[in-house]
Amino acid sequence: MNRRYRKTIIAGNWKMNKLPGECKEFILHLKEKAAAAKWCDVVLCVPFTHLASAVKAARGTRIAIGAQNCHFADQGAYTGEVSCAMLADLGVKYVIIGHSERRQYFGETDLDVNKKIKAALDAGLRPIVCLGESLEIRENNAALDYIRMQLKIALKDITAQQLRKVVIAYEPIWAIGTGKVATAEQANEVGSAIRETLRAIYGARAARGVSILYGGSMNEQNAEGLLAMPDVDGGLIGGASLDTEKLAGIIEAARQELKGN
Ligand code: PGA
Repeated sequence: MNRRYRKTIIAGNWKMNKLPGECKEFILHLKEKAAAAKWCDVVLCVPFTHLASAVKAARGTRIAIGAQNCHFADQGAYTGEVSCAMLADLGVKYVIIGHSERRQYFGETDLDVNKKIKAALDAGLRPIVCLGESLEIRENNAALDYIRMQLKIALKDITAQQLRKVVIAYEPIWAIGTGKVATAEQANEVGSAIRETLRAIYGARAARGVSILYGGSMNEQNAEGLLAMPDVDGGLIGGASLDTEKLAGIIEAARQELKGN
């Protein structure tokens, strides 16, 4: 990571886990750690049903609350969906967009992702845009091209000004929930390719300001090595984010890296 130009972000993705009532206690445990951790921004992305209580519990702390999905329309006949305006109104600050589980199980396309990013930005939310290749694509040596393509479609018609609010997360599908983490070199290679693509579209100045996270079996043990890489500016953490101790360990690992800088 390069703290001179961009923020380190440690973001938890709870996925479909825990009950709304569990947010309060979780945040109570995490908030001291987050208060001391001036070296990074801490984000917790919880299910829709938990957002109101999570925002309430996180008020006055350094923990920002995020959603895990949104719809791209402002309002209308979309049964079961939630708009970005609704999220923003609750006090939500971030929204994960295009997670591979959304793409895989709910048929989300790169074009949907593009529309959702625009909707999030219009509502004042910071999108955490997920990109990542399957094992098959990696084994065919096509990962970098695939991710460049995902990125270009995701950011179509997004301006350099808007890009300042965008967070990118590189999440190889083969590493998500598998315990099979990417090596620091693999994560950095993709992070660099993402930044290079941003540079080609938006110029060096805009590109260096974007935080590029890594996600996929990150935990308190492997975080330090990953976060030490120049183009890994934080983590999007699933399993390990369900445990305050583990999440606090990852936040601490981001500091260790600072010392080594
Ligand atoms: P994991 O999930 O940390 O459990 O692998 C990461 C994610 O899907 O965001």
